[in-house]
Amino acid sequence: MEKSEESLKDLPFMDPNLDIEKRIDNLLSRLTLDEKISLCSGKRFFWTKPVKRLGIPSFKMTDGPHGVGSGILFLKKMMYFPVAICRTATWNLELSKQFGEALGEEVRSVGYHMILAPGINIQRTPLCGRTFEYQTEDPYLNAKTAVAVVKGVQSKRVGTCIKHFAANNQEYNRFKVSTEVSRRALEEIYYPAFKAAVEEGDAWSVMACYNRLNGTFGCEHYELIRETLINKWGFRGFVVSDWFATRFTRTTECIKAGLTLEMPVAKVYKDKKIKEGLQNGDFTEKELDDNLRRLLRVMFLAGLFDDPESLPIGCRNTPEHKEIARKIAEEGIVLLKNDDNILPLDPSSVKKIAVLGPNANKKMAFGGGSSMVRAKYEITPYKGLKAKCKELKIKLTKSPAKADVVIIFAGLNHGKFMDRENKDRLYLELPKKQIKLIKETAKINPNIIVVLINGSPVAMDDWINEVPAIIEAWYAGAESGNAIASILFGDVNPSGKLPITFPKKLSDSPAHKDFRTYPGLKDWSSAKEGDIIALRKNKGMVIFTDDDDKVYYDEGIYVGYRHFDKNNIEPLFPFGHGLSYTTFDYKNLKLSSNSIKQDEKLTISLDITNSGNRAGAEVVQLYIQDVECSIDRPVKELKGFEKIFLEPGQTQKVEFEVGTDELSFFDEDTESWKVEPGKFKVLIGSSSRDIRLEGEFEYIS
Ligand code: BGC
Repeated sequence: MEKSEESLKDLPFMDPNLDIEKRIDNLLSRLTLDEKISLCSGKRFFWTKPVKRLGIPSFKMTDGPHGVGSGILFLKKMMYFPVAICRTATWNLELSKQFGEALGEEVRSVGYHMILAPGINIQRTPLCGRTFEYQTEDPYLNAKTAVAVVKGVQSKRVGTCIKHFAANNQEYNRFKVSTEVSRRALEEIYYPAFKAAVEEGDAWSVMACYNRLNGTFGCEHYELIRETLINKWGFRGFVVSDWFATRFTRTTECIKAGLTLEMPVAKVYKDKKIKEGLQNGDFTEKELDDNLRRLLRVMFLAGLFDDPESLPIGCRNTPEHKEIARKIAEEGIVLLKNDDNILPLDPSSVKKIAVLGPNANKKMAFGGGSSMVRAKYEITPYKGLKAKCKELKIKLTKSPAKADVVIIFAGLNHGKFMDRENKDRLYLELPKKQIKLIKETAKINPNIIVVLINGSPVAMDDWINEVPAIIEAWYAGAESGNAIASILFGDVNPSGKLPITFPKKLSDSPAHKDFRTYPGLKDWSSAKEGDIIALRKNKGMVIFTDDDDKVYYDEGIYVGYRHFDKNNIEPLFPFGHGLSYTTFDYKNLKLSSNSIKQDEKLTISLDITNSGNRAGAEVVQLYIQDVECSIDRPVKELKGFEKIFLEPGQTQKVEFEVGTDELSFFDEDTESWKVEPGKFKVLIGSSSRDIRLEGEFEYIS
């Protein structure tokens, strides 16, 4: 019997110099069946059960995507970082990595081992309640950004848990709905970020989704977990269920698929059920071991058995973390519209500002569901603006008639049917009261700047022409108020670009074609008589159709801008859009060759010049178009980007490399990635709809 601390220390698995696989073997070989089973499910809401006899402590997990979550047992005050959509809007991978490092330190500081983040589901519908928690509609940007976060967090020996695997793109009916999606769409759109986070980022954990994927629940999806994640992508970490996601699943199927940990409590992994399964020969102890060894591996990676002195140091709410939060906010906020350069505000002529709108002084950290953060502090937009205006001796008022400029802080919040987990939004429009406020104010004073505080696209058709400037400020974290003020007055030149298309109206969006493609469709205006089979308001859940247990991704790969491009629909603001207070010129596009073969790389270069008179940053975007192909392909696909900081007049050369990976598509017939010989176009732009340079080359087989 291993009992005393003294003797435990001498056991081989405790030796940090021993190869990790040997440590796992050794520990696994000492566990009794009962102990193994106890490790397969949670103890408290976010912990695993300890095995005291062998000195295995609880493995502790915490939410969530923009800061250490408040959990239910956890009252520490933490750094509130900008939400994922805002961070992704920076298009700055270094910042995502720094965010990851800071997040890892925050997790360590409270003695936890893994963060239930990043959330990397594709933003398929603008109404998804968790759009703010997810990164983007584009698989390439999603993958690059996810890898940066994963690497950052894990450099602190804290695990990431990429979620929610897979095709969990709406909250509506999330516990039951079956996502009906083609293999090609999975491979080209929904998998890439998960794949890259595993293959390039070595993510230590994956959270299985609530929903079914083509009929089978995520937790027991053999093809998804065992065949794809584990066998094809070489995942070495463990799969954890989303909390209570096993409720409709079966023990044997979960074990065989490769679900290691059932959270928060045992249902399918109850002692009795596992023992029965073993006795009946439904699965073997070896299969159980294979699942468990993955959790033990992550425990070793996170240093649970190592001398705490040898592990990275944790810290929270440090000046460095604050700085990272502020930089992300400053670079993630997007200037959507700026007629007649009303922005930045000029303190020599602006002496009085009217501040209106429901989001001026609203704190946002503690809301939205599992991602909520009990923030150490949060500078609201009003607080940030007030401090700045005090410095500049500008007066703030509530009366638009008496002001030089009016700032309306509009948008959404984390309330019911807004940006929030477990529910989707009902409409694309802003709340009616806000539209009224904007329109009525415009009659009194046309110098309006609308600052949107929200985490998902809103329609603006009703009011956009009545305001000269619009800023998308998202939920930009603890420093949001300071960042917004810096942008309004030009201390910071905006450089954020939309990671998601803003549609003019809901029915323009690929998910909102009809009731099949989004069963919770709430576009009353486009709903035809007879479409609404049943409408029942029940505890806030609106149930519409009699077939809403399935959502059909009929649009296939045409998600986001791919859909708008293909169908020639003009978006309100396109993917990749974002204005600056300066201008950039794109010149001298050069391709290293006019053709490439398999395994060869094409180098694409161009010069970018800051042609205005303010320092600023531009996100240069590279899109590829397959001109000749036997199957239908998108008009363009993002395959490279670079954020360049330039002083006025400064020019810099930007280079991209393109090879087979960037040119290929998923061929369902051969179940493999493929490039067909023929012409390809290189499109370099400032947004997906603002292409500045074009080139062409040929792929030769
Ligand atoms: C959410 C997850 C979260 C988990 C634990 C679930 O409801 O879907 O994203 O990590 O709860 O709080």
